[in-house]
Amino acid sequence: MRAQIETLPDPSHLAEAAARQFARAATRALRNWGEFTVAMPGGTTPRAAFERIAGLTTAEGLEWEKVHFFWGDERCVPPEHPQSNFRLARESLLDRLEIPAQNIHRMPGELEPHTAAQAYESDLRSALSARVDQGVDLPRFDLILLGLGLDGHTASLFPGSPALTEYLRWVLAQQATDGSWRLTLTLPVINAAAEVLFIVSGREKSHILRRVLRGTEDLRALPAQAVQPAGGDVIWLVDAQAASLL
Ligand code: 6PG
Repeated sequence: MRAQIETLPDPSHLAEAAARQFARAATRALRNWGEFTVAMPGGTTPRAAFERIAGLTTAEGLEWEKVHFFWGDERCVPPEHPQSNFRLARESLLDRLEIPAQNIHRMPGELEPHTAAQAYESDLRSALSARVDQGVDLPRFDLILLGLGLDGHTASLFPGSPALTEYLRWVLAQQATDGSWRLTLTLPVINAAAEVLFIVSGREKSHILRRVLRGTEDLRALPAQAVQPAGGDVIWLVDAQAASLL
């Protein structure tokens, strides 16, 4: 596992850098596989990056009809709900592109959480069947985009959660610290990715970012530290405010 940190001066440059990394990963996957499989993050940080990614064209190597969108996690709400991670991506990215409907693999947040997790795992097994490493029964996403929570969570893998020691399931239903239900990819799936890209912005993230990147390893307390793809790269794109304590 190789982790690299790229510090950008401000959120706008951070969004541009995320779009560049997205285009680079996409170009490489399209060359190698003829398709690009990417799992999208949630939260608020990614909006600016999604808007920049929407502006990528074939000039940057993007063939949108060959891009397959998945999600790293989702809130258990309907897709039109203001809290929906899918709604964030639809508004800031998908609605601006010509993506075939069958290429958009939304987590069914409107279903009962455990049913939704099973349904999404079935969708993944079907959609990514050609990209499963049979030796370990895990899908290899070309790119997984992640954020970092103030408590060190990533996707919907929260500190101390039993989900952190799940080694068989690809998708789990999880209760967030506020009691709301979420759906999340599990660590084995995240760590099977060819590349993981964290996008972290803002001074309020400076303390947790220092703990995760420079502090003592504590994978249960800091789930983001457990993102260590065995055969992949981890790239941290951070702005100067988030990186101010590194
Ligand atoms: C979610 C995300 C979550 C997010 C972090 C950071 O559904 O909320 O997947 O893991 O990435 O909480 O969120 P912000 O970008 O809003 O700070």
